[in-house]
Parts: sequence; structure tokens; C-alpha cells
Amino acid sequence: MTQQMSSGSPFLKPFFLKTPVSVVSSLRQRRHTLPASEFRNLTPQDAISVFEIEREAFVSVSGECPLTLDEVLSFLGQCPELSLGWFEEGQLVAFIIGSGWDKERLSQEAMTVHVADTPTVHIHVLSVHRHCRQQGKGSVLLWRYLQYLRCVPGIRRALLICEDFLVPFYLKAGFKEKGSSAITVSNMHFQEMEYSLGGQAYTRRNSGC
Ligand SMILES: CC(C)(COP(=O)(O)OP(=O)(O)OC[C@H]1O[C@@H](n2cnc3c(N)ncnc32)[C@H](O)[C@@H]1OP(=O)(O)O)[C@@H](O)C(=O)NCCC(=O)NCCS
Repeated sequence: MTQQMSSGSPFLKPFFLKTPVSVVSSLRQRRHTLPASEFRNLTPQDAISVFEIEREAFVSVSGECPLTLDEVLSFLGQCPELSLGWFEEGQLVAFIIGSGWDKERLSQEAMTVHVADTPTVHIHVLSVHRHCRQQGKGSVLLWRYLQYLRCVPGIRRALLICEDFLVPFYLKAGFKEKGSSAITVSNMHFQEMEYSLGGQAYTRRNSGC
């Protein structure tokens, strides 16, 4: 995706939630202490950490990962600006990987393809490290990602597929149901969900984009 953020960079600048007490204590320590909490776009160098979380989250449950390691590497190489990672003291604790898509609904092809310069983001996977689940992190990361997408010029909506049990989670985040998805993976069926980013001129003007 060639679109630029208004800052001139296509990437999300890292930002920090809070400064650890140890950092405040001395300038010397500050140079050697990792940020307590950081959100940034992922890079291919993060692929192994991403895949470890993904493998634990999905393989043990369904035997299938939404993305193989090669696909993670491919998307983080092609469209890192559509990903977001949450790091705590340098460790990845949660992430989202997206890519561009150019049709009204998601099809099987969308699972492996990135279409550049389109108004639709396909969210392939949201995953939280197993030690950090049920603490609100999935919801917070999703909210931050959707706010971030508002700042990416040209992006108007996000689509994803999920199993039935996660529909309430995405409804709570503001997604709307689009009905059953045509996509199947190993006899699993999915609901398609859509989040509209359009008509948010006020939010855009005041969001610090
Ligand atoms: C789904 C996931 C991203 C949610 O992140 P989280 O940080 O645990 O979620 P939060 O603490 O923000 O929100 C908790 C809510 O998530 C939903 N939820 C999470 N896991 C769920 C599950 N296994 N079954 C049903 N609902 C679930 C519930 O609505 C829950 O609210 P409740 O506790 O009031 O019922 C996380 O559990 C995860 O990584 N799961 C494994 C991977 C996955 O399924 N990813 C989504 C598909 S791509």
C-alpha cells in the first residue's frame, strides 16, 4: 500500500502508554529500559513472535492457523502499515494483521492476497498471548487499530470473518454482521463482520492523525 499518513510516513510511529518507574529514576536507566507498553506496526522481524502466539491460540483449538508463517512474512513485507502490535517491555503480547481487499465481501482468495490502494482492510487475525487474555487487551488493541485506520488516507472500512462465538465480541467493538461467509476452512464456517470508518470527519480532524 503506497498511501501515506499525514505525518509523511506510511507507518505508525511507536507510542508509549506509560513510563516504568525504573525509567523515571535515572537518565542512565532510561537508556537501558524497554518501554512498559508500546504500540507499533509490525515488521517481518516480528513474524516469529507473531506466529508463536498464533500457533498457540489456534492450532491447539482448531488445528488451523489463520495465517501460516510464510503468509505472516508475506503480509508484513507487503503491507506492514496494516498491522499493529502491542509490546510490553519488548515482548509482543497481542497483534493484528490486515491486508487490502477490493471486493464487497471476502472470498477464499482474500485469505492469501493483499490488494494495494483499496478502501477495504481485511483483518486476517487478532490474537492475544494466552497469559494476557480476558484482561481487555484484545478489545483495546482492536479499538486502537480502528482509530489508527481512520488516519490512513483512503481506508473506509474493515472486514473480517470469525466463528459464531466471537460475534458478540466484534459487535461490542462496533462491527456489524454481514451474514454467513463463503469462506470455509477445514469444515469450519464463519460469520462476516464489517466496521465502517466512513463519515468520521470530526474524529479525523480531532484524532491527532
Ligand atoms: C479473542 C481474543 C482476541 C479476545 O482478546 P481478549 O484480550 O482475551 O478479550 P478481552 O479481554 O478484550 O474481552 C473479553 C471478551 O472477549 C470475548 N471472548 C474472548 N474469548 C472468547 C471465547 N473463547 N469465547 C467467547 N467469547 C470470547 C468475550 O466477549 C469476552 O467478554 P466476557 O468475558 O464478558 O464474556 C483472545 O481471546 C484470543 O487471542 N483468542 C485466541 C485467538 C482468537 O480466537 N482470535 C480471534 C479470531 S482472529
